[in-house]
Amino acid sequence: MCGIVAVTGYKKALPLLINGLEKLEYRGYDSAGIAIINPDTNFISCNKAEGKLQNLKNNLNDHNLPGTVGIGHTRWATHGKPDFKNAHPHTDSSGNIAVVQNGIIENFQDLKNKLEEEGIIFNSDTDTEVIPHLIQRELNTLSKLNLENNGSTLLVAVRNVLSDLEGSYALAVLWSGAPNSLVVARRQAPLIIGLGEGEFICASDTPAIANFTNIILPMEDEEIALLTPLGIEIYDSNNERQYRNPVSLKVSEQIMDKMNFKHYMLKEIFDQPQTAKNWLENYLIKNSDNGQYQINYPFDTEFFKSIERIEIIACGTSKHAAMVGSFLLEQFSGIPTNVFYASEFRYSPPPLLPNTLTIGVTQSGETADTIAAIDMEIKRRSSIENEKFKPNLIAITNRKESSIGRQVLNIIDICAGIEVGVAATKTFFAQLLSFYGLAIKFAQIKGNQSSDEIGKLINELIKLPPLLEDLLDKHNKSSEKLAHDFFNIKDVIFLGRGINYPIALEGALKLKEISYIHAAGYPAGEMKHGPIALLDKKVPVISIASPGEVFDKVISNAQEAKARDSYLIGIAPECNGTEIFDYLMKVPSSNEWISPLLNILPLQLLSYHIAAHRGLDVDQPRNLAKSVTVE
Ligand code: F6R
Repeated sequence: MCGIVAVTGYKKALPLLINGLEKLEYRGYDSAGIAIINPDTNFISCNKAEGKLQNLKNNLNDHNLPGTVGIGHTRWATHGKPDFKNAHPHTDSSGNIAVVQNGIIENFQDLKNKLEEEGIIFNSDTDTEVIPHLIQRELNTLSKLNLENNGSTLLVAVRNVLSDLEGSYALAVLWSGAPNSLVVARRQAPLIIGLGEGEFICASDTPAIANFTNIILPMEDEEIALLTPLGIEIYDSNNERQYRNPVSLKVSEQIMDKMNFKHYMLKEIFDQPQTAKNWLENYLIKNSDNGQYQINYPFDTEFFKSIERIEIIACGTSKHAAMVGSFLLEQFSGIPTNVFYASEFRYSPPPLLPNTLTIGVTQSGETADTIAAIDMEIKRRSSIENEKFKPNLIAITNRKESSIGRQVLNIIDICAGIEVGVAATKTFFAQLLSFYGLAIKFAQIKGNQSSDEIGKLINELIKLPPLLEDLLDKHNKSSEKLAHDFFNIKDVIFLGRGINYPIALEGALKLKEISYIHAAGYPAGEMKHGPIALLDKKVPVISIASPGEVFDKVISNAQEAKARDSYLIGIAPECNGTEIFDYLMKVPSSNEWISPLLNILPLQLLSYHIAAHRGLDVDQPRNLAKSVTVE
């Protein structure tokens, strides 16, 4: 999981590469590097720096690199420590070939052993470094066939090397023998080519391209391309030349603006009322004949009718959204539903059952475990010759042009706009809304819920945007104050039950990932079975207590924590029972079904302010990256 960018054309490459890397830094920030071909000597000049991109920029301040062809990389370490020697680009022994790569070359150790036996000396611990050495060896072989030194020869060499690589990758290659050319390729990792004016820019994600052009050619899996200032040649894995029309980027795929907020995360928390408005506008349609609301998802009713059960596959925050979704689909719509960690599902899938809908949830659309789990499910279902076992798929994603968008036909686009903060906030909220839509759709089609109850839920959704605005206004300052009192704590426990249990998990995940404070979420009723041993006056407990089915139970569980001297913070409306809390983060009274959509906001704000108060890098927390494109 790294970001790569590559450019060839008539403009200076350096500013284009740096600008692209700035937009990709959310993918990894362990080190950064660039390689540019010197137009006078054809030598490749490589510059790298450990740590954030700013370090590389500082190093480059007094460098004048006039070249127009180059590659760049921002790294999230997988093989080898996050230090200088492992920073990309990596080169062959002569320095004539430079490579940047995002992915994992699974058989790199075998390849490295063989190359070392041939006398190659490695300078890094990365899997990537085998690639330039292998390309160099391939070019040596090709030179015996008297092929010219040009981009086409580089293309052949890279293609031959790719056939020896196992794993997933997106890569870009420079060769001093073909100084205007770039070769790029992808397998199970994203890569997009932007068609600029006078240049082609290739990158892992759209924001890196959006400043230069809004016309793109997404590369398909297993494709390889040769880019020169004169044009692009794309080939599939059978070496067939591919011709396709470019597409335009949506405005939401281009905008990355912090506005006046200190961090992207805070801005994205404040985006959520608009996220709700967008969802309502896009997906809630009033039928002019009967005045009833319908969910405007792009699949026909027949699709839903045959579904008897649902399995949902996701990771991290997306899994927490899926858990709320599962609660709604079972308890509101009456469809048996199971949620799986994608990384577990891959290696221990449940036995196949008929008439099952598989839902993949991934904001980035690129999470390797989720993509692989869905792929595995498609394959094992397709291998059975029985209609009832065929794959029925929906993907819920913020990036419909991503890998999952190409893998799954039925997409629910959460339309949250680009999320830059590494901690997911508005995309979690939009994923939740997508599940409310699905639950309503199933309830309407299957008739497991009265139309009155469905109508009530829809009305609550319609009322959301001003409530959310109000919540944010009220809690921004107060959670900043609370953060001031709590920024030094070591452990926090989050409790919730029923539909709010996943919100407790998500609250804990948000806190730990950006503030590095240990936090754990539990179903409130489970406390007494072990975790209660952790409690004392140094361990605050945040309890989500929404009026409804389990309110009294949650309050009793909070009492148990109070009896162990824990400081109690409640996320609840002000009502009988909530006096127990030492501090109440008030949320509006609502129907219990809708409560997760309100409860999550104060939790996000509290985590944000605690991390900001600790002076941490909220948008780019250590060891993390926005999309996890490796297993
Ligand atoms: C947490 C977070 C991660 C992601 C997880 C899955 O704030 O962002 O836990 O939710 O890596 O990512 P996607 O949704 O892109 O599959």
